[in-house]
Amino acid sequence: MADQSNLVVAIDGPAASGKGTLARRLADILNLRYLDTGSLYRATGLSVIRAGGDLKSEQDAVKAAENLDLSTFSAEELRSEEAGVAASHVAFLPSVRAVLLDFQRSVAANPGADFSGAILDGRDIGTVVCRDADAKIFVTAALEVRIKRRLEELKGRGETVIEARVRDDMTARDQRDRDRSVSPLKKADDAWELDTSGMNADEALAEALGHIRGTGPQ
Ligand code: CDP
Repeated sequence: MADQSNLVVAIDGPAASGKGTLARRLADILNLRYLDTGSLYRATGLSVIRAGGDLKSEQDAVKAAENLDLSTFSAEELRSEEAGVAASHVAFLPSVRAVLLDFQRSVAANPGADFSGAILDGRDIGTVVCRDADAKIFVTAALEVRIKRRLEELKGRGETVIEARVRDDMTARDQRDRDRSVSPLKKADDAWELDTSGMNADEALAEALGHIRGTGPQ
């Protein structure tokens, strides 16, 4: 059980909305343990590919989720477009989500003695994983802005990028995330929406901090 001093912040939103950058910076400032839940789905998808399995096979994907070892993937591998697309296929499977749920909840409830709480980012943190979070932020940005951000992220890491491909992948992935029946990408009723389309990372951070400080227990 989470104690009273454990601040839990849920950040959700579509691909490249800026939620990862925001969550990381909030974690530093508020001394929260950060869990990038997308990396769990990305690693599960990549594990299936590595094992020569089928991304749409529940059996292959559950096996990968149960035996997940994040340390066997580099940050570059996890953040690749291939991993993002693979993630959204395995994330579609309810039994995969069930396997990953306990771990995510345990991080939120027990972030560790050195932290003042936890911040998780993903698609279903406010609606499923941490329904009782102290603050819920749903981060959005216009599609064109998100495509530009993802292109910059990929180019910054030296990946060869084809804009049309990134656009197609992101649009298809968002649609799969929104339309799935279990844990779809959706703003929780009690979440606060932050549209970062016209904001840089500092401005988004200032807005989010203002919100959390106004609603959280501290
Ligand atoms: O960074 P980006 O927003 O592009 O993606 P991510 O947060 O790393 O998530 C990759 C994929 O994992 C998403 O497109 C979802 O399909 C899936 N995911 C999910 O279903 N639930 C979560 N809590 C986190 C990610």
